[in-house]
Amino acid sequence: MRSKYAVIAGTGMGNIFELSEKFEVETPYGVAELYSIRDFESLFFLPRHGIGYTVPPHRINYRANIYSLKKFGVEYAFATNAVGSLNRRFSPGTFLLPDQIIDFTKSRKSTFYEGDDGKVVFTDVTRPYSDKVRSAIIDASKRLQIKVYQKGTYVCTEGPRYETAAEIRAFKILGADVVGMTGAPEVFLAREAGIEYASIAIVTNYAAGIINQISHEMVMDIMVKAQEKVKKLVFEAIKVLEAGST
Ligand code: HPA
Repeated sequence: MRSKYAVIAGTGMGNIFELSEKFEVETPYGVAELYSIRDFESLFFLPRHGIGYTVPPHRINYRANIYSLKKFGVEYAFATNAVGSLNRRFSPGTFLLPDQIIDFTKSRKSTFYEGDDGKVVFTDVTRPYSDKVRSAIIDASKRLQIKVYQKGTYVCTEGPRYETAAEIRAFKILGADVVGMTGAPEVFLAREAGIEYASIAIVTNYAAGIINQISHEMVMDIMVKAQEKVKKLVFEAIKVLEAGST
């Protein structure tokens, strides 16, 4: 099976679609699990943390995931990411399309180009997210009258702990608007693989130090409430992309 589109779903989006078939895809980096979606054949579903939410952010096999999408013909990927907000403008429940990312991860395999084959490859990520997918989501949001902020800088931490208040103060000085644990290296691997990739970030909480305590429950709660809107945005954005490609 091949599909042109994929949703890489994060926290709280595990049951956003009715799934039909599971594919265990062999890759040079291990096995990735993809799902087809009932009544929507051109879209794959890839739950980043596993279907039962069992894989923490720092142990996700990002390379196997992206490789499997490429292998199955995916050209456009919509990611969802739960994020904390460093910016008072972005309150919980806000949808935002990051246009920039700062990578503060520490232990992840973050390239397909390890150099083992004697090939040295440098990848341009000046604009890390796909303009094409971002503008399709923006068009979709206008059509659907769903409020989506069109820009923001995402800082990716290693997790699985949340940040200290001092880390958040530092990230704010660096220009970050939102913080999450799964944006990198996913976006960079997608670029290396030639997949047009954008993220719909959903603010679930104000970041550490802006509020006194963060819990996974508050994150989950907001994400589950965001499911319907995410689904509508993705379906409409696919229509926009399809209209543009004919
Ligand atoms: N920090 C990191 N990741 C997150 C947060 C946060 O505050 N909220 C949701 N994912």
